[in-house]
Amino acid sequence: MPKITFIGHSCVIITHDSHTLIVDPFITGNPSATIKAGNVSPTHILVSHGHGDHFGDTIPMATRSGATVIGTYEICQICGKAGVATHPMNIGGAHQFPFGRIKLTIAHHSGGYGDDASQYAGPPVGFLITIGGKTIYHAGDTGLFYDMKLIGEMNAIDLAILPVGDNFTMGIDDAARAIEFLRPKQVLPIHYNTWPVIDADPSRLAQLSPGVKVTALKPGESLTL
Ligand code: NI
Ligand code: MN
Repeated sequence: MPKITFIGHSCVIITHDSHTLIVDPFITGNPSATIKAGNVSPTHILVSHGHGDHFGDTIPMATRSGATVIGTYEICQICGKAGVATHPMNIGGAHQFPFGRIKLTIAHHSGGYGDDASQYAGPPVGFLITIGGKTIYHAGDTGLFYDMKLIGEMNAIDLAILPVGDNFTMGIDDAARAIEFLRPKQVLPIHYNTWPVIDADPSRLAQLSPGVKVTALKPGESLTL
């Protein structure tokens, strides 16, 4: 049974057996995070796009832990130049890893890297992660898109991890529509309340999505699938 721990913002840690995956390891400088980046030793680091609030601690964490970075070709080029192990992928592609399967999905967003996000870092992506017999969809940063319907038709999603903070991504109302398209068993809202501009009330998402379990974890809290 995979365990999912919400670290804050878009960062989650997924553990199953001896495998520890961290998605979007923005911990240093993350006002929501209750842990230190130096205390996380993942086996794999999944990076959805180049923005600092997602790429975050990727390079120092991978250097220290020996974790393999999984992301687009361009994200992996940036990481490879820093000397860390990578597994480059791209949208629509899936790969079987020792822990399970990952498929990259589209995400409607931007994807620059660096202090001013001016360095091309490939397109933003989401991740379909199959681990321990469960399917988890981490949408990354994205607006609502109709192909979520296709993702929902092709995958029995046990947990959808969806941004809800508005302004930079979907807000609550669009996330409710995303849930209709994706038909997940459970939803973990992310990318909200980190800063005032993305304040949101996830209880409103639960009201708009009856029949789906909306689990709003506080940073540091976990759920088990
Ligand atoms: Ni972003
Ligand atoms: Mn973001």
